[in-house]
Amino acid sequence: MNSKDRLIFALDVPDKKEAQRLVKLLHDSVGCFKVGLQLFVQEGPDILKLIKDHSTADIFLDLKLHDIPATVRGALKSAEKLGVRYITIHSMEGEAILETSKEIKDSGLEVLAVTLLTSMDEEQLHALGFEKDTKICDVVLDRALRAKQSGCSGIICSGEEIAQVKQKCGKHFKVVVPGIRPEWSQISSDDQSRISTPRKAIKEGADLIVVGRPIRDAETPEEAARKIVSEIDP
Ligand code: C5P
Repeated sequence: MNSKDRLIFALDVPDKKEAQRLVKLLHDSVGCFKVGLQLFVQEGPDILKLIKDHSTADIFLDLKLHDIPATVRGALKSAEKLGVRYITIHSMEGEAILETSKEIKDSGLEVLAVTLLTSMDEEQLHALGFEKDTKICDVVLDRALRAKQSGCSGIICSGEEIAQVKQKCGKHFKVVVPGIRPEWSQISSDDQSRISTPRKAIKEGADLIVVGRPIRDAETPEEAARKIVSEIDP
């Protein structure tokens, strides 16, 4: 895979006008556009057509599905028809939901399981009721293994857990990493906790990195994207 294809840009913008501007600017510089809740709730599936009309990049529908198995299964069946490459489901409820990914195995849609959000730190984890000696990495590894055994294509985790996930789940199990902060980026009131630079994440073994604000908020987004791609070039 070339370096550009490893870069996913998070299209975290309010509407199709802004999305179209960024897709036109970045279609040559990134391998995939990620559509999240803000844009999908606003524009619906039409936004996917708009991206396809202006780019040949993959599309990642980051809806982080979290519901009873029957409902998640139904959502995956609907997503199959949208022509996207990736979709996310939450892993915290265990195998019953993760196994819904098996039913769309041959459709070309790959299910990625969200392990623990990169905005979460250990203090927050303990405040949620996890034992005081529970490490973030152990929770991520446990969820990653369940996702693998349940037929998911890969997981989302932070840069801090990549190496151990790869070691436990094998090199073909995809590891997709948000919380990416190049050394030169400055994000005001950043909500990400477990962060990594693009180069470090790829060196640790990430298959794909997700970058939003460091590109979106840069003076010239296309230059920021190219800079990241050159940083991860081997
Ligand atoms: O702007 P920033 O680079 O922080 O964007 C990261 C993107 O990755 C956001 O769209 C966010 O929803 C997504 N994401 C994340 N942590 C996860 C899963 C997805 O930050 N565990």
